[in-house]
Amino acid sequence: MSQTVQTTIREVSSHVGAQVRIGCWLHRKRSSGKIQFLQLRDGTGFIQGVVVKSEVAEAAWEAAEKLTQESSLWVTGIVREDPRSPSGYEMSVTGAEIIHLSADYPITPKEHGVDFLMDNRHLWLRTPRQRAVMVIRAQIVRAIQEFFDTRGFTLVDAPILTPTSAEGTTNLFHTKYFEEDAYLTQSGQLYMEAAAMALGKVYSFGPTFRAEKSKTRRHLIEFWMIEPEMAFVDHEQNLRVQEQFVSHVVQSVLTNCKSELQTLERDTSKLANVTAPFPRITYDDAVKFLNANGFPEFNWGEDFGAPHETAIAESYDKPVFITHYPTELKAFYMKPDPNRPEVVLCADLIAPEGYGEIIGGSQRIDDPELMEQRFKEHELSMEAYQWYLDLRKYGSVPHSGFGLGLERTVAWICGLDHVRETIPFPRLLYRLYP
Ligand code: 4AD
Ligand code: MG
Repeated sequence: MSQTVQTTIREVSSHVGAQVRIGCWLHRKRSSGKIQFLQLRDGTGFIQGVVVKSEVAEAAWEAAEKLTQESSLWVTGIVREDPRSPSGYEMSVTGAEIIHLSADYPITPKEHGVDFLMDNRHLWLRTPRQRAVMVIRAQIVRAIQEFFDTRGFTLVDAPILTPTSAEGTTNLFHTKYFEEDAYLTQSGQLYMEAAAMALGKVYSFGPTFRAEKSKTRRHLIEFWMIEPEMAFVDHEQNLRVQEQFVSHVVQSVLTNCKSELQTLERDTSKLANVTAPFPRITYDDAVKFLNANGFPEFNWGEDFGAPHETAIAESYDKPVFITHYPTELKAFYMKPDPNRPEVVLCADLIAPEGYGEIIGGSQRIDDPELMEQRFKEHELSMEAYQWYLDLRKYGSVPHSGFGLGLERTVAWICGLDHVRETIPFPRLLYRLYP
């Protein structure tokens, strides 16, 4: 027999017929007296190892018998193709060597409550579903970077400690910065506007923080946001980038994460549909639609809640842009529609299947006088934002950008009903552990 190579479960397809050695954990075990079926996992995947008593040394058989759930081991065996197995491969075990015996692993095959699983998040991550979510999240990040890196955008990092707010003052995390007050960033956008004036097309990708007292399935306290900002790009062009971008991300996951989507039992026909262009509806028309479809009391000027967004999204089988929101409802920096200053050149992108807003974006005010006026109306300190006002003073240009929430996007693509499973260690209203 040729030399035994150390490999991973992901790589077994290139070792069919050969003996390999894999460091792994026991996920589950089934035994029929003379044969033990080991469900093994090593982080890269799952494989069944078959131990036949009459074919292995006694030590290997005994080691396999001792193995408890989540014990770690070195396994050696011959890789076989097996069309019945979900991975397509199986291993005829020739040797098993326990590294560490695990005792009383808390997550058993029986059903557990969400609080229990969240308390054990550090272990819960080992289960097939959670692993699949993390793999898809990583693929989404890769697809995001690929999209922007191949379209002339430069990655620029925004600061996390900031002296001022970017998205309103109601949900700021306060901290001390030596003697000064500081806040954890809610959005890198304002800094990206400065970067766009230096580099043309930029994007940031980092953690953002919102001290939101909302306990919904869409809100995290700490979440990751991708924020592109583009000089010389208007509202219309901004929407076209967004629909190309979201289509790219979804199609990339469909191509590269087939087995993970299968583990999650995701209905991929709904995702296959997600190709540009996306439908659009104005805020005005969305209000009319709601009034005619179950929300007769909804008034122009009110903000949409989750039930409204879901009702609107249900009419479409792709993400839908809701455009031209009332100026009053939106952030101070959004550019008013020149034909109708009571609405702004903005859009929220609402994901299908009830996943809600995944993108908020707009064209930005480039007129220095109007920006100053907005500062006064919103009672923002000109001093604190002098640098931001400078961007309108020295060669101001039309520019636009948007922010995509990573976790809501992961929830939608994976078909999860809560964002708490989309991030390795979620920070929620009542949860900072583990
Ligand atoms: O709509 P938001 O607040 O927009 C901004 O922060 C802009 N400065 C973005 C920009 O134009 N550069 O947030 C953008 C997205 C939302 O659509 C949502 O997907 C996500 O960030 N998001 C959250 N995700 C999870 N938990 C929360 N608490 C979130 N708040 C916003
Ligand atoms: Mg928003």
